[in-house]
Amino acid sequence: MAKRIDVSDLDIYYGNFKAVEGVNISIEPRSITALIGPSGCGKSTFLRSLNRMHEVVPGARIEGKVVIDGQDLYGSDVDPVDVRRQIGMVFQRPNPFPTMSIYDNVVAGVRLNSTKLKRAALDELVERSLRAANLWTEVKDRLDRPGAGLSGGQQQRLCIARAIAVEPEVLLMDEPCSALDPISTLAIEDLMTQLKERFTIVIVTHNMQQAARVSEFTGFFNLAGVGQPGRLVEFNPTEKIFSNPDQKSTEDYISGRFG
Ligand SMILES: Nc1ncnc2c1ncn2[C@@H]1O[C@H](COP(=O)(O)OP(=O)(O)OP(=O)(O)O)[C@@H](O)[C@H]1O
Ligand SMILES: [Mg+2]
Repeated sequence: MAKRIDVSDLDIYYGNFKAVEGVNISIEPRSITALIGPSGCGKSTFLRSLNRMHEVVPGARIEGKVVIDGQDLYGSDVDPVDVRRQIGMVFQRPNPFPTMSIYDNVVAGVRLNSTKLKRAALDELVERSLRAANLWTEVKDRLDRPGAGLSGGQQQRLCIARAIAVEPEVLLMDEPCSALDPISTLAIEDLMTQLKERFTIVIVTHNMQQAARVSEFTGFFNLAGVGQPGRLVEFNPTEKIFSNPDQKSTEDYISGRFG
């Protein structure tokens, strides 16, 4: 089941530092939303606020509201650990469990969710997830080897396989293709296009072509200066952002006239 995400008046802090300010956005289910903007403007920070990974940092907190399908994500009755299980995330830096085998990495999330699956069903899930992440042929003969033995791009694809294996209703991807070659990048874009039939996907990318290719909606984050909080400057259908954006700073950024 795809879910709708409504964010209102969101400020995000690391201790006293306000990293992101005043975000209002509604993210549609069964769609891909791309987030773009210069380094340090708070894209990763915002993304992590959508599955409560932000609070893992000591002193980190938010003000404002994140509502997922009508439920307050930060409500006092909500367990952040459950949230992190249900809202999948692929991080900017690949983070496979290094000593765990490739196979166990893929099913790690599924096992956490304590689904009791038979070995044959797990085998099938591992193959399906690795194929979707365009990694299967490279690792099928060494599934019992540690995840740390893979190249950077392979590790990134392993993390994508791990994230999709649990079939999350919302999938957050932070520059998932930054370490990938063009073939794997296209495979991941194909995968996202398939997944959005069922899920809600939010992707951070520095690749304008990628945002234009895969997403229905694009948000442009920017910051007024060093030490200032990042803001969502414009949020519009991707077609509009790349043809006729409302804000001049959006136009400057996407046409490379930034800074
Ligand atoms: N764990 C942290 N503790 C303190 N400040 C942080 C932490 N993580 C990020 N920040 C700060 O928050 C701001 C936003 O960082 P963030 O990583 O969200 O930017 P970004 O848009 O994802 O950048 P990039 O495109 O380089 O990945 C930056 O000023 C950064 O230094
Ligand atoms: Mg980032």
